[in-house]
Amino acid sequence: MNMKNIPLSEIYMDDDQINAVIDVLKSGWFILGERVREFEEKFSKEIGSKYSVSVSSGTSALFLSLLASGIKEGDEVIVPSFSFIATATPIIHVGAKPVFTDIKKTSYNIDPNEIESKITSRTKAIMPVHLYGNPAKMDEIKDIAAANNLLIIEDACQAHGALYDGKKIGSIGDIGCFSFYPSKIMTVCGDGGMVVTDNEEFAEKIRLLRDHGRKDKYLHEAIGYNMRSNEIQAALGIRQLEKLSPWISTRRKIALKYNELLNGHVITPVEYENALHVYYMYVIRTNKRDALQKHLKESNISTGIHYPIPIHKQPAIIDHMGDIGKLKNTEECAKTVLSLPMHPKLSNDDIEYICEKIVSFF
Ligand SMILES: Cc1ncc(COP(=O)(O)O)c(C=O)c1O
Repeated sequence: MNMKNIPLSEIYMDDDQINAVIDVLKSGWFILGERVREFEEKFSKEIGSKYSVSVSSGTSALFLSLLASGIKEGDEVIVPSFSFIATATPIIHVGAKPVFTDIKKTSYNIDPNEIESKITSRTKAIMPVHLYGNPAKMDEIKDIAAANNLLIIEDACQAHGALYDGKKIGSIGDIGCFSFYPSKIMTVCGDGGMVVTDNEEFAEKIRLLRDHGRKDKYLHEAIGYNMRSNEIQAALGIRQLEKLSPWISTRRKIALKYNELLNGHVITPVEYENALHVYYMYVIRTNKRDALQKHLKESNISTGIHYPIPIHKQPAIIDHMGDIGKLKNTEECAKTVLSLPMHPKLSNDDIEYICEKIVSFF
């Protein structure tokens, strides 16, 4: 029996990051300074977008992107329900309606075939989520958006460094939104987010809105918010970004090993040929999910369920917009998905131990 606990995810920390934080503390400059600018520049380079605007969280990134796009009361945004609730709540906060759309069971991402029937004269945008780090079908989504004059706001909060048709996720739609929450592939060791875009007007609006609508110290051109990022988070983000690429390679190697050992026992993740899945989460599917999770917990293996209740079934959402009825694949996946431990420090022995426990369970 393995006595040590195998965590679901783990943050990488080293002296370089700790010293970078100490440097900020000694500098006496904490908000929107040179480190934030450097982080934005380096993130733009990584994603291949003209502009990056760093903000206080992934939720702020989505909210400010919707505001900058002019999405408002009476508008509709097409979005999957199989995601974290923060995909949908910013849509409600700008006064618009999230139009929940079913997913494909193979990718867990929004099903492009379901999108067209949801489009009305009020639809303004599609918000695909690249769930677990697996890119949504961006070519089909782009065609639908172009044919219907819709914006694409990518919820890339789980997909740093993922690729679709050779382009980085986040740079394919009109705007891409990232989260640096501690569990993510790269983090700022606290809350943080980034908006990326090639549209100068959107970038300028988001810069204004994140900092009290401020054009100059005491000149306010818009009714803004305080959704700024800070120097400590940026100093950490710069260093984590340097490691993103090797971390993705390690995550993909771990996923391959899991696939090899679990094939035939549970449903393992599917990758598209033209996409690079970055495995923020390694997610399996089985009808015996709850019993398997309990069994793994007894063996000191931490797992997660992302997500047990689809957004359209959350009490807050039903309270706000009523019950929209059934989304078949979404509801089936909510009952059957299980996230296994996934982080670069996972050893071969850990993976073999986890898989041995899963195989013996069945
Ligand atoms: C898909 C998705 N969207 C939005 C968010 C919100 O990001 P944050 O927690 O940084 O506000 C998250 C992260 O938790 C997420 O996973």
